[in-house]
Amino acid sequence: MSAPAATQALRIDQARLIERLDQLAQIGPIDGGGSCRLALTDDDRRGRDLVVSWMRELGMAVHIDAIGNVFGVRAGTRELPPVMTGSHIDTVRTGGRYDGNLGVIGGLEVVQTLNDAGIETERPIVVAFFTDEEGARFAPDMLGSLVYVGGMALDEALDVRGIDGARLGDELERIGYAGSAPMTTLKPAAFVELHIEQGPVLDAEGLTIGAVEDLQGISWQELTITGQSNHAGTTPMRLRHDAAYAAAAVANFVRQLTREMGGSQVATVGKIDLHPNLINVIAARARLTVDLRNTDETLLQQAEQRLGDFLQQLAKDEGVTIESRQLARFEPVIFDAGVVQRIEAVTSRLGYSQRRITSGAGHDAQMLARICPTAMIFVPSIKGISHNPAEHTEPADLAAGGNVLLHTLLELASQET
Ligand code: GLV
Ligand code: MN
Ligand code: MN
Repeated sequence: MSAPAATQALRIDQARLIERLDQLAQIGPIDGGGSCRLALTDDDRRGRDLVVSWMRELGMAVHIDAIGNVFGVRAGTRELPPVMTGSHIDTVRTGGRYDGNLGVIGGLEVVQTLNDAGIETERPIVVAFFTDEEGARFAPDMLGSLVYVGGMALDEALDVRGIDGARLGDELERIGYAGSAPMTTLKPAAFVELHIEQGPVLDAEGLTIGAVEDLQGISWQELTITGQSNHAGTTPMRLRHDAAYAAAAVANFVRQLTREMGGSQVATVGKIDLHPNLINVIAARARLTVDLRNTDETLLQQAEQRLGDFLQQLAKDEGVTIESRQLARFEPVIFDAGVVQRIEAVTSRLGYSQRRITSGAGHDAQMLARICPTAMIFVPSIKGISHNPAEHTEPADLAAGGNVLLHTLLELASQET
């Protein structure tokens, strides 16, 4: 068999891919088979240590930058900008075992496959995992990759406070991942992220691969509603300034808004804290989050505007004050057409079914798209379930994604451009 034909026939090792995913999932395990590794916690550190140990076993040079992003570098035969892949290994509190982890471990599996086959590439291949992609503990989401591409100042990011009051920079130091690698030395020639879809489309259509061509805009805000606590039995309804009621009205409003707007508009109130949070006391304060997303920037702005108008009216009607703090704001992203087409061509050659797809979730790739040609590879999520320990992708689909990643990276790493 000629060398190119042998390379064409190369496939990743499905069992090894799953073995590493299983090992990582056992760090911060939760009921139902998922993991909890909120960013920069001790379990995140343990997960990082494990992945870094794998990078070293694979002969990769490990670089850690000042926001804790980790880059494993497999050298190329030439001094060219690298091709980068990767994702994140932090999770939400109710994380599954594939969200993010697949992209990182899939990248390591590509490297091991190339090592075992003795295949060198012209460009280096970098497998990265970025700090705090989820934003569940420290907002905004994709924080590490945002800082990496220059979209947020390092000092500002280090000063972010988590939902538990911790300062991000202190937690990074505490877990030993405040590195010193300069942010810019590893500017990639291209970035490709393998990820589970986290939505229902591929599973419903019985398809194996999604070539991700765009990604929704994201708007996160935290609302603080201040009313007046009072006795639940003695206070007439007309005299109440009830922060809990106002919070519920916001949740109801955004649901109605999505019905009216239709299209890709989605809205979520995922977190509500009440104070004093007691059965017989009218709530004095509600703190809640609103997550709005749309593939169309103009429509996303309309949704924000309509929510803003509603909040003004609500404050007047209920005699409460409402303060809003923006936690994250990212415009929709269109991925690089050349990289998307390359993923499609590789997928056809490997014989997997596919379609183009939009990402509803946020990803590090949307940040990397600011600095280099970027796209993503999706594999199906059974019933579209994610951010839930029940998140599942069939092993053969995980491996298919790994194989598309392998051959896409191989092509990009041997490109002259
Ligand atoms: C990140 O996972 C997000 O889309 O919320
Ligand atoms: Mn993810
Ligand atoms: Mn996620």
